[in-house]
Amino acid sequence: MSATSVIGLQWGDEAKGKIVDLLTDQHDIVVRYLGGNNAGHTVVCNGETYKLSLLPSGILHPDKVSVIATGVVINPKAFLSELDSIVDRIGDKKSELLISDRAHIIFPYHMLEEAALEKSRKNPIGTTMRGIGTCYRDKAGRTHAIRMGDILRPDYFRKRLEEVVPQKNVIIKALNPEAEELNVDEIFEEYSAYAERLKPFVIDTTAYLHKAVAAGKRLLFEGAQGSLLDVDHGTFPFVTSSNSSGCGIHNGSGVSERIISCMIGIVKAYTTRVGGGPFPTELDDEVGELIRKTGNEYGTVTGRPRRCGWFDAIATGYSARISGVDCITVALLDVLSEFEELKICEAYEIDGVKTTDFPSHVEDLRKVIPVYRSFPGWQSDITGITEYDDLPENARKYLDALEKIMGVPVEIVSVGPDRKQTIFKKNFIK
Ligand code: GDP
Ligand code: IMO
Ligand code: MG
Repeated sequence: MSATSVIGLQWGDEAKGKIVDLLTDQHDIVVRYLGGNNAGHTVVCNGETYKLSLLPSGILHPDKVSVIATGVVINPKAFLSELDSIVDRIGDKKSELLISDRAHIIFPYHMLEEAALEKSRKNPIGTTMRGIGTCYRDKAGRTHAIRMGDILRPDYFRKRLEEVVPQKNVIIKALNPEAEELNVDEIFEEYSAYAERLKPFVIDTTAYLHKAVAAGKRLLFEGAQGSLLDVDHGTFPFVTSSNSSGCGIHNGSGVSERIISCMIGIVKAYTTRVGGGPFPTELDDEVGELIRKTGNEYGTVTGRPRRCGWFDAIATGYSARISGVDCITVALLDVLSEFEELKICEAYEIDGVKTTDFPSHVEDLRKVIPVYRSFPGWQSDITGITEYDDLPENARKYLDALEKIMGVPVEIVSVGPDRKQTIFKKNFIK
C-alpha cells in the first residue's frame, strides 16, 4: 500500500499511538500533520512505555523517517525537552526527524491569552492550556502569526516580534489586568536559542513528501485528537482548533489524501472524553467509574480523569463518514471484560424524535437521550488472545453489532497496550 492513515473517531485517546507504532514497520515515513503538545500518544514496546506528544510515534524506529508537517503547531521548548528525554532513553536508535518550515510557533502569549479566555467563559472548553487554539487563531488571522521559517531568520524574526508583542501585551492586559508584560528582547533571546537547536531538523517537508511519494516511499499519517474534536465537524465549540478528522490530512501535510489506500478509523470499545462539552452516552455512575478504573482513564497530557461512557455508534458512524474510513480498529476491548451487560447506542432521541443523524448544534446534543441495545458480556480474560476466532462469542457479537451500526468493517482489535496484544483479521493486508 502506498499510504495509510490512522484517525481517531471519538474525542481523542483511542490508542492511535499504539496502532501507528504497530504499522510503522510496513511504512517508510510517519507523518504528524496537526495539533501540538495537546496530544499524548502512548507506545508500549519491550515493556517500556513512551508518552509522545509532538514527536511522531515512528520516532522509536531507527530505520524510518518521522515528519512533523506544516499543520502542526510547535512549542519549541516542549519539543526540545521531549526530544531530549527520548534521546536519553533510546540514544541514536531514534528515527530521522524532519520539521516543516511552514509550521506555526507557540509563544508564551498564546498560553496567557488562552488562560484568560478560558477563565472568562461561563462554560469553559476545558482545553489543555498549551496555547494550541490561540496559535491556530493567529495562523488564520495572519497578523500575529510567526512560523518555523521565520524564527530561523534573526532579523526577520526580531522585526516580527517588535510588531506582535506590544499588541499582545495590550490584548492580554485587557483580558487580565494583573498579567505581566512580555518583553521582546527576552522572547527573542529564548526563541533564538531554540531556533539554533531546531535548525538541523527544519526543511520544506511538503517538497520532501512529494519527492518521497514519487519515489514510491510508503507514508503513514498519524492523526492526533479525534474526529469529534474537529473544528468544523466536531462538537463545536467544544473542539480543538484544527481539522482533527480525516479532513485535516491534506491541508496539514500538503499531500493529497488520494494517495491513501487504507484509511483506518480507530475507536475505543467504549467512549471517553476529556474537557467540557456534550457527551450523550456519558455514565456518571459506578459503571462509568469502573470503566475509568479498569481502563486507567486519566489524561496522558494533563492527568485529568477522563469522562467515560458506553460506545456511541451514532457519533462514531458520523465520524467514520466524515473521515471516509475504510475499516475500524477497536481498541481497549479488554477493559469491558468484567461487565455482565454492555450497551451500544444505536440511535438518539431528541425532543421525542428518534434519529440516527449526529446533531450539528451543541444544544441539541445536550438534549440527546441515547437509545441503547444491550449485549451480554463475556466475563473472561481476553488479553492473551491473538486470533479473532478465539475471542469469546459474546465479544464477537459485540464487535459485529458495532460494525453493522457504524457501517464499516472491524479489521483490527486491540486487547492490551502491548504491541503483541493486537488481533488482525485475516483479510487485513498490513
Ligand atoms: P492516543 O492519544 O490515541 O495515542 O491514546 P492514549 O495513549 O492517550 O490513550 C490510550 C491508552 O490506552 C494508553 O495508556 C495505552 O497504553 C492504552 N492502550 C492502548 N491499547 C490498549 C488496549 O487494547 N487495552 C488496554 N487496556 N489499554 C490500551
Ligand atoms: P490525542 O492526540 C483527548 C481536547 C481537550 C479539550 C479540547 C480542546 O492524545 O488523542 P485544546 O488544548 O486542543 O484547545 O483543547 O480538546 N483534546 C484532547 N482530548 N486527546 C487529545 O489528543 C486531545 N487534544 C485535545 O481536552 O477538551
Ligand atoms: Mg492521547
